[in-house]
Amino acid sequence: MAPFITFEGIEGSGKTTQIRLLAERLTNQNQQVVQTREPGGCPIADQIRGILLHPDNASMDSRTELLLYAAARAQHIEQIIRPALKTGKIVLCDRFTDATLAYQGDGRGLNRDLILQLNRLATGNCLPDLTLLFDMPVEIGLGRAKQRETETQDSSEGRFEREKFDFHKRIREGYLALAKAEPQRIRIIDAEKPAADVSLQVFSVIDEFLSQQEEAI
Ligand code: TMP
Repeated sequence: MAPFITFEGIEGSGKTTQIRLLAERLTNQNQQVVQTREPGGCPIADQIRGILLHPDNASMDSRTELLLYAAARAQHIEQIIRPALKTGKIVLCDRFTDATLAYQGDGRGLNRDLILQLNRLATGNCLPDLTLLFDMPVEIGLGRAKQRETETQDSSEGRFEREKFDFHKRIREGYLALAKAEPQRIRIIDAEKPAADVSLQVFSVIDEFLSQQEEAI
């Protein structure tokens, strides 16, 4: 199986730009890459994304939210992630199971064991080999996310960005706790640095990881 790499972080942490740059770099190195995201990544999961992120759905119950993320994930894994890994493609996924632990667990306060159980059901043990956590202060990330929304004039996915500061602070802390518990898999990227510097950090972690994988074969 090819490596499965996920990207996590608070809103506005810059991970989406960095995934694109990494995908371009790996493709230029003749690697086969699939770049995808959660929630979404395939037509059914994209429809669920629309429901999850639309600001009109502010009254959504936390359990409904959790179940929809799990439903989108199950479809995405079956249709996109597992087939790509089986055919030797490196999968780069913007958010995955750690996001559910951070957002629905630390953010919404849902039971951690329940989330782990649902993650297991949805993934069928298809888990990331490496996760890059784009860490930065919440003030800066939220500022950037708001600026992006103003610039693109697209508010159709802003439900989480409208949450209070403390919600996002709990998420950052939740992510950092996950990284502390699994330092081998989850590598912290200092996302507060300028974009070019962040790219260098990403490339260095990825190069080291891929060369270790090659050695192991
Ligand atoms: P994005 O803005 O990075 O595309 O992510 C979509 C939003 O969905 C973001 O606010 C984080 C949230 N999210 C969860 O709350 N739980 C999850 O399991 C995932 C994958 C995303």
